Amino acid sequence: MLAVTAVIQVDDLHKSYGATRAVDGVSFQVERGEIFGILGPNGAGKTTSVECLQGLRHPDSGTLRILGLDPAHDVREVKRRIGSQLQESALPDRIKVWEALELFASAVPGASDWEGLLDDWGLTAKRNATYASLSGGQKQRLLVALSLVNSPEIVFLDEMTTGMDPLARRVAWGLIERIRDRGATVILVTHFMDEAERLCDRIAVVSSGKVVALGSPEELRREHGGATLVRFSAKIGDGGFLKKIKDVTAVRIDGESVEIEGTGAVAVSVAAALAAKGLAPVDFEVARASLEDVYLLLTGDTGDGSDESPVEEAP
Ligand SMILES: Nc1ncnc2c1ncn2[C@@H]1O[C@H](COP(=O)(O)OP(=O)(O)OP(=O)(O)O)[C@@H](O)[C@H]1O
Ligand SMILES: [Mg+2]
Repeated sequence: MLAVTAVIQVDDLHKSYGATRAVDGVSFQVERGEIFGILGPNGAGKTTSVECLQGLRHPDSGTLRILGLDPAHDVREVKRRIGSQLQESALPDRIKVWEALELFASAVPGASDWEGLLDDWGLTAKRNATYASLSGGQKQRLLVALSLVNSPEIVFLDEMTTGMDPLARRVAWGLIERIRDRGATVILVTHFMDEAERLCDRIAVVSSGKVVALGSPEELRREHGGATLVRFSAKIGDGGFLKKIKDVTAVRIDGESVEIEGTGAVAVSVAAALAAKGLAPVDFEVARASLEDVYLLLTGDTGDGSDESPVEEAP
């Protein structure tokens, strides 16, 4: 059943460019107030999907609803109520930072106080600088700030932190959480697993134009990350008392080295069982699949760009 709080609904979206099937049957919905992540390899169809949602591209087929509106028809209304991070090339080189903010604010009745955005995004000192003179990360911060001028109900951020230094990224994360805490919904396309893990309430993993997994970071790890491994050194005999634990699926013993495979809260159960026997191994360690492990497993991404067509070299 469709939740009444869904602000975005995508059903069986298809979009091709010539022979390239960029989006090949994508479906998901986003609840109000979520930070919804979209992860996937280069060319997976992430940008195409979010551009269709914003009414910037026309889908070949499928149903899209954003704030109850059809982005292909209610273009102005959608534009008024969403914010979108612009592409790097979208601003003229000579425009000054304050002029860009002023320009964007003047186009929106009741626009938010852009002076506050200067401060939030660490651009106060660059107020009078031209766009061309900004560093890559500063440009990026300005483009995000501009997407917030109309106090949007939904913000689309496509690779928001690319080019930002580590501190700027952390600051940006805090600001994104603030946007969400004020009740807005955030769609975050990113290649950074730490960013997705920290920020996203739910994530859609997209590969070759399809959603291959959807859930909270924790759900993705649990459902697709395989077993939890617990390792420690202790004399445990044949380990019979550990094999009896519900979440334990395997016990491997090699002298004093023990490796336990299990599910759920297996590490806690094993630790408790050891403690009950007066055992407290100092090298007790727990290994779980990271979001990156899960991502690589799901997308088969070898990192060599093999999903792209080979580029022919000039003779
Ligand atoms: N304007 C276009 N004309 C032709 N093909 C396009 C166009 N835009 C995207 N494509 C192709 O569609 C596919 C999906 O591209 P898209 O930009 O949606 O991917 P993405 O998931 O955003 O990738 P990235 O992580 O690299 O940003 C790619 O194969 C791409 O080459
Ligand atoms: Mg993209």
